[in-house]
Amino acid sequence: MKYILAAAALAQIAVATEGSDHELEKRLDNGLGLTPPMGWSSWNVAQCASASERYAIDTANKFISLGLKDLGYSYVNIDDCWSTKSRDGSGNLVPDPSKWPNGIKSVVDRIHGMGLKFGLYGCVGTMTCAGYPGSWGREAQDARLLASWGVDFWKHDACYTPCTNGQTPQTCWSAQFNTRAWYETMRDALASVRSTKNIYYNLCQWGRDSVWTWGNSVGNSWRMSADNWQDWDSVERIGSAAAGISQYSGPGGFNDLDMLIVGNNKLTENEERLHFGLWAICKSPLILGNNLNTISAASLAIIKNKGIIDINQDRLGKPATIFRPSGSPAPVSGRIYSYWAGPLSDGVVIGLVAGTGAATLSVNFRDVPGLGSGSYSWREMYSGRTGTGTSVSFSLGNHDMAVIKVTTSEWYSQCV
Ligand code: GAL
Repeated sequence: MKYILAAAALAQIAVATEGSDHELEKRLDNGLGLTPPMGWSSWNVAQCASASERYAIDTANKFISLGLKDLGYSYVNIDDCWSTKSRDGSGNLVPDPSKWPNGIKSVVDRIHGMGLKFGLYGCVGTMTCAGYPGSWGREAQDARLLASWGVDFWKHDACYTPCTNGQTPQTCWSAQFNTRAWYETMRDALASVRSTKNIYYNLCQWGRDSVWTWGNSVGNSWRMSADNWQDWDSVERIGSAAAGISQYSGPGGFNDLDMLIVGNNKLTENEERLHFGLWAICKSPLILGNNLNTISAASLAIIKNKGIIDINQDRLGKPATIFRPSGSPAPVSGRIYSYWAGPLSDGVVIGLVAGTGAATLSVNFRDVPGLGSGSYSWREMYSGRTGTGTSVSFSLGNHDMAVIKVTTSEWYSQCV
């Protein structure tokens, strides 16, 4: 699937650089996802092998013992491969008994009892990407089953859908079909069970059909790119593309930059700081795609950075994007630009990013959208450095990031 998804990434970059005056359509408005969801997903840990009760309960316990629950991580999401390969005689999805010896509902109940939430995964098409039953033609039935189990979160993938040639390949990129209608079918199915269970709806069609322009009338968040393939190139590809679509994201409907790979020994410590910091200020869902049993102390400290989590969870829900201080070089497509800023309810967040090599990055606050020529108090969230003045300057190693919160007076929050 990788080669096809690369094409999607290119299409997405093209769209992301188009004009930005698109009117947001009516929001889904199910009252969920007013700030980006925080949690964990099983996929990166061991793909199909981690779609089990053991991983779900173990992760829920880790959320508590590692202090992640207290910081807001709440969704324990099971991805592809949780069911058997065929439906039962009534057409219902069946939890694989070897992975769910007690069924799904008992696990959901236990996780709810721990003050946490539970998510599941499915697919628009006839099969999921790994070949398990999809929801095609069965959306209402599947929604009823999810609601009866008390599932809180549903990720809807885009494999095995009809293609121009009448086939249903694992991934069809034919322009003839627009994925929107398929995602609306599941939206309506979930809406019809809302009185039983209000379910968060995450769209996963890899940024097709400019999903950011209509995603918030369909779901609570939408993947805006091909997968994070657990390498620096993915972080760079996704992080750079996020700058062009920030205006479409807001409370109840957020661009989803895909799972975090902090703690998987795939990035340097600098890159892990950049990855977490950038996803957070872009108001992406913070869904951990890692194994909490083996995470290092350094990686754990990154995902537990309360100052950065608070920025991600700020009630305004407005993503940061790039700005260009006078005298700085122009952004380069596909590279993560050095200067980012976004509004907060009590200030402004500035991201300084050494995306292409070690750098000393300085910014005058008067160049920052939302700030003026006065003196401000600031705090950098990784180092804890604080100061007051008209500018900041940070020397950063290759692929590192500084996340600076500039506090403004209360009037600011009333003006944005
Ligand atoms: C992909 C999706 C991944 C993961 C995988 C499971 O399409 O982007 O996040 O869910 O399917 O098969």
